[in-house]
Amino acid sequence: MIRALLPGPVVGVDAFGDAPEGVLLPAEEAVVAGVAAGRRREFATVRHCARRALRELGGGPGSAAPRGVALLPDGDGVPGWPDGVVGSMTHTRGYRAAVVARAPDVARLGIDAEPDRPLRDGVLETIASPAERAALPLACRGGGGGGVCRDRLLFCAKEAAYKAWFPHARVRLGFRDVEVSFDGPAAAGGRFEARVRHGAGELLRGRWGAGGGLLVAVVAMPGAACRARW
Ligand SMILES: CC(C)(COP(=O)(O)OP(=O)(O)OC[C@H]1O[C@@H](n2cnc3c(N)ncnc32)[C@H](O)[C@@H]1OP(=O)(O)O)[C@@H](O)C(=O)NCCC(=O)NCCS
Repeated sequence: MIRALLPGPVVGVDAFGDAPEGVLLPAEEAVVAGVAAGRRREFATVRHCARRALRELGGGPGSAAPRGVALLPDGDGVPGWPDGVVGSMTHTRGYRAAVVARAPDVARLGIDAEPDRPLRDGVLETIASPAERAALPLACRGGGGGGVCRDRLLFCAKEAAYKAWFPHARVRLGFRDVEVSFDGPAAAGGRFEARVRHGAGELLRGRWGAGGGLLVAVVAMPGAACRARW
């Protein structure tokens, strides 16, 4: 499902089931020692996806290691990638996905996946500005109208933007610090902009897709070496 959302320099691998036991490297095993089985499975499978994506991207430190490199979270939970690589990971019920790219080609990369289900009562009011709420089609607040749950899609786009922005900025944002606008009422996918309102601000761009009861949003910003538009 993910490939259609990715600009040329970005490689993504997703999974709808879990990888077999034993895909974690020893340093990763240590991170999830003693955690619940579900958390361990998502942690392992998304790293399996990430290593497949890194292999597809090719080259770089650690790419020749038979089992690949360990992808360890730092103190903020941000995954560490091999030098010269940017990446992001997400997991939600029944779905895991990882995206990677070379740093000169892509400056910011973030992915989020969510179930295509309405947000709980009151959450939209917390995460969305009045302008964002006004832009949601009435029928699609919390689903209905034959389309996706656009309240959840808004949440998903904000999380993808946050994951693209945080590893570089290292500043925690509130949901109202990122203003998202979508390019239209498309039924199963489209583009969005996410304006970060912190410091000098930053405009991030992304794409979203829907299918199989899932929403996926990817933010990918061109790096210095990228001349292509996407
Ligand atoms: C970090 C956060 C965005 C993760 O999103 P999520 O929907 O809970 O979980 P997902 O499964 O989609 O993503 C989890 C993965 O994101 C990555 N991640 C965790 N913290 C991260 C961070 N600060 N920055 C970038 N990536 C992060 C990790 O790879 C993690 O997987 P792992 O623990 O297996 O390594 C979320 O938990 C969070 O802290 N949100 C509060 C901050 C926020 O959203 N502010 C407003 C946004 S506008």
